[in-house]
Amino acid sequence: MAYRIKDVMISDSDIKDRVKKLAEQIENDFNNEAIVLIVVLKGSFIFAADLMRELKGNIKIDFISVSSYGDETESTGKVRLLKDLDTNITDQNVLVVEDIIDSGLTLHFLRGHLQAHKPKQIKICTLLDKPERRKVDLPVDYVGFVIPDEFIVGYGIDYAQMYRNLPHISTVEEY
Ligand code: IMP
Ligand code: MG
Repeated sequence: MAYRIKDVMISDSDIKDRVKKLAEQIENDFNNEAIVLIVVLKGSFIFAADLMRELKGNIKIDFISVSSYGDETESTGKVRLLKDLDTNITDQNVLVVEDIIDSGLTLHFLRGHLQAHKPKQIKICTLLDKPERRKVDLPVDYVGFVIPDEFIVGYGIDYAQMYRNLPHISTVEEY
């Protein structure tokens, strides 16, 4: 089965506006205290880069990488840690930056992993949320856009490592 790009679901200017709003909300909630952004690679790197530039104050960044998908469009449900943090997050305000929450299994696993380091608090920010697909209960603090159960690509998000360079979010179709 092969996939190709179909329709624009969220334009680049809509993303830009929403990212600004999310940053305002985050700044208010964290009371201008220092924040460590934890970027879940690879899909979140463009969102995180844009979000970080909208945030003022003491913002640090670190990267973590997990794998659960392979080249399929359905999660295998098994989460594997591929790259751990370099930063000590004990007693820090942590904001996990994710591209998309689907079953919730990835962030459920990551939350537990990060909690073990005893941060001051952990909040979760995702650009996209597919609540229909949730398999585990997961508190999500900031959501850019709630989207229907459709496979999407672009703005950092891939299908089989492709289409991350699209500036907008697009649906894909089988052919
Ligand atoms: P979860 O563990 O099922 O919540 O999966 C979350 C991860 O699956 C996201 O971080 C994405 O990397 C990937 N993912 C989920 N839905 C999509 C999609 O529609 N397109 C591309 N990747 C997706
Ligand atoms: Mg991801």
